[in-house]
Amino acid sequence: MDRLLIRGPVKLKGRVSISGAKNAALPCMAASILTDKPIKLTNVPDVADVDSTIELLRYMGAQCNYDRNKNYLLIDSKTLNRYEAPYDIVRKMRASSLVLGPLVARYKRARVSLPGGCAIGVRPIDLHIKALSQMGAEIRNEHGYIVVEAKQLKGIKFFFDIVTVTGTENIMMAAVLANGTTVLENCAKEPEVVCLAKMLKKMGAHIEGEGTDRIVIEGVKHLKGCTYKLISDRIEAGTYAVAAAITKGDVIIENCEVEHFENVLIKLEEAGAIIKRLKNAVRVTMNRRPKPFEIVTMPYPGFPTDMQAQFVALATLAEGSSVVKETIFENRFMHIPELMRMGADIEIKGNTAHIRGVKRLLGASLMATDLRASAALVLAALAAEGESIINRIYHLDRGYAHLDKKMRILGAKIERLK
Ligand code: UD1
Repeated sequence: MDRLLIRGPVKLKGRVSISGAKNAALPCMAASILTDKPIKLTNVPDVADVDSTIELLRYMGAQCNYDRNKNYLLIDSKTLNRYEAPYDIVRKMRASSLVLGPLVARYKRARVSLPGGCAIGVRPIDLHIKALSQMGAEIRNEHGYIVVEAKQLKGIKFFFDIVTVTGTENIMMAAVLANGTTVLENCAKEPEVVCLAKMLKKMGAHIEGEGTDRIVIEGVKHLKGCTYKLISDRIEAGTYAVAAAITKGDVIIENCEVEHFENVLIKLEEAGAIIKRLKNAVRVTMNRRPKPFEIVTMPYPGFPTDMQAQFVALATLAEGSSVVKETIFENRFMHIPELMRMGADIEIKGNTAHIRGVKRLLGASLMATDLRASAALVLAALAAEGESIINRIYHLDRGYAHLDKKMRILGAKIERLK
């Protein structure tokens, strides 16, 4: 298993180019199931979750041709002949459940392993299932799999009790080929949901209201193929922005839609960073110890849960006490005991972390527990004195394209140990 060796502290300097968004790539890849015509996706990030989704599509019989240097992916689902997401792939990547909606919409059946628990919480898919059932699907639980069958899905009015990103995406994909009109209320408004809706429209779907609480979908009979460019990864961009701030560096983050991570940039400004918004780029400079701040994670456009761990790392070195409240996932503070081993002073009360800033962190041997927790440990290690080893970085590789290479270009002393 690969590990990262990081020697700190360093001041990051230079330019970094942001890859396509992992959380846009996964639903857009699943959307290829909705047509028997070829799909070409561009700006596809070279991350392990994309490889897992390719493995899943191939398992189902689709043909995938991925050029990871040029970042494009061709998918042809004409030959798809197996309507199943097996446990071994779902176990690695919970977002595999995104094939549920498209499979039932186009092939009238799906068998998808139930995701179970993961490091950051229970993460059920009950709302996805409830909506599909109201659309006329028959659903049963068989040997750890959810089996869904439907003669023809019909349009419904549905209210999501909880705002769910992949839930909104799954049901949107089910509704594009359903009979009649579907009205979804309390939808997720994340840029990745909008990205998927735009792709579906390019394929011939009738969708209105993406990016708002209410999405209206009028079912059509067939969808066609398309070429489609994914948006850039706002969480990757936000992570490099915090990296610049925590190392008191000066970094230009390029190839990103700045408006997609304003929520993060505003918090960084509160923490004392100087932010210059450029065209498809942002320059982050920090000349001081961070000021303390307060954060509450919320669905978009609120502060993203996927940036919470990175900001906890930043708060450990602040001049004063910060408060970070996690409202989306129930167990998303796994990075905190590791940060404390580096000398951070943090107390967890329920879903809130109280972080008293310290003057310095010391490098240590650390365990990555999930994707964003791993990113937080990298950031802390860059700012800490001495050597850190980060174990289990396969979590990091799931969602950050070439993080070690990109950090090295910015001057980080970081090595991947095989
Ligand atoms: C997506 C993102 C993930 C991000 C998360 C929240 C992808 C591939 N992943 O995950 O990076 O951290 O959004 O922004 O896009 N819930 C239910 N029942 C459901 C569905 C969700 O109770 O049927 C709960 C979840 O347990 C969680 C909350 O709703 O507490 C939000 O989860 P959700 O938005 O669904 O997260 P994902 O779509 O899995």
